[in-house]
Amino acid sequence: VKLEMHRNVEMFGAVRINDVQRIFEIGPGNAEEDVVEGEIITPSAHRISDILGRMAIIVPIKGENLKLLEGILASIPTRCLVLVLSNSDRKPIDRYKMEAEAVANFCRASKHSCITIHQKDAKIAAALKDAGYSTLLDGYGRVRNGKGEAMVLGIIFAKLFKRQYVGFIDADNFVPSTAYEYIQSFAAGFSMAKTPYSMVRISWRYKPKISAGGLYFRRRGRVSEITNRILNLVISDFTGFGSEIIKTGNAGEHAISLPLAEILQFASRFAIEPYELVNMLEIFGRGEAPEFKKSVKEGVEVLQIESRSPHFHDNKGEEHLNEMLLEGLASVYHSNICSDRVKQEIVSELLSRKAISSADDVGKPRVMDPLSKIDFEAFHSRMRLKTDTIQTFNLNNEVLNLPDMGAQG
Ligand code: GDD
Repeated sequence: VKLEMHRNVEMFGAVRINDVQRIFEIGPGNAEEDVVEGEIITPSAHRISDILGRMAIIVPIKGENLKLLEGILASIPTRCLVLVLSNSDRKPIDRYKMEAEAVANFCRASKHSCITIHQKDAKIAAALKDAGYSTLLDGYGRVRNGKGEAMVLGIIFAKLFKRQYVGFIDADNFVPSTAYEYIQSFAAGFSMAKTPYSMVRISWRYKPKISAGGLYFRRRGRVSEITNRILNLVISDFTGFGSEIIKTGNAGEHAISLPLAEILQFASRFAIEPYELVNMLEIFGRGEAPEFKKSVKEGVEVLQIESRSPHFHDNKGEEHLNEMLLEGLASVYHSNICSDRVKQEIVSELLSRKAISSADDVGKPRVMDPLSKIDFEAFHSRMRLKTDTIQTFNLNNEVLNLPDMGAQG
């Protein structure tokens, strides 16, 4: 991977946010060691491969087309562990069963190391409860619905399998090979990070809009435009200096190092991505956080990498976009770093898009306990008992004590 160095960095206490970096070679290349030529850096192919081998890619899925899922799997390097986290319907048609079969057939041929999990597996919920992590559960003791919830569950399994990085790739991508570009960028970003507490967020170069007039290569989606503007206002208020540093407020495609993922508090559903940035500022923005002395000393770094490929994904309609916008902005609104001025901006954006009818509709999103609250040993020993939905492929199964489905067929 060849990347330009970031041209601008902004610091907020212990948080360092780098400006967007463009890509100049998508593939891993064959540099024997890191090369810096002028403004361009090429991490060594060995380092990229090593990081990929320590990374889990989490694919949240809820009722997407199986052909798209297969395409995504084929775009994930086989060195990564793949976690397919499904919340697809089980009735009247068992869509999860169909997904698990598609993954099984695919992985037997491809030899990807992969785990499929259903978010509503009752035994996983019971194990979480026993491990003191009920924050993911609803009133019936099940894991709640939501993409954010699936991502957090994915991080827990990535830790169980001793991965040091987690990357998130949506399953509704019409051009799955772009996932390859995103994952290479994750690895390149981590190879450049100056601290173990880092996050790489992808900024889509274009998010094309398909209309009767043809294809228009829009720079960003409308939700992202608004979320970025509001997050930059938060930062401007926080520091007293205007800022446009945030270009990835809603980045679904992003990756986190495990040490950082274990500190952050994640928000529910679609608030998860914007709130990651807000929570970083809440915890580290003033550089104090005595309980996180080590991470404050090392610093927390956010890298933003701009993809070369445009992103085409399933269009789920205006109502869905408004819901996503409301959830994201509500997580900013209810943060203790949000000033009254920004609160007013948030309300007027949401009113103008008819996402709310009054300020009272900006409900507080659920924020989950940090993963450090889980008793991992208790969770692990419960997970060694058979669950209803987990299937593993081409994995050393000592961790879960399950038969390896990849070995069949
Ligand atoms: N397991 C699980 N559980 N997966 C879910 C759930 C859930 O409750 N809800 C959605 N997903 C899956 C979808 O199947 C898809 O693969 C992915 O999560 C993204 O969900 P979409 O509903 O397709 O979101 P989107 O495409 O409109 O928005 C995406 O891009 C935004 C940035 O523009 C998401 O990644 C957002 O989080 C992101 O902010």
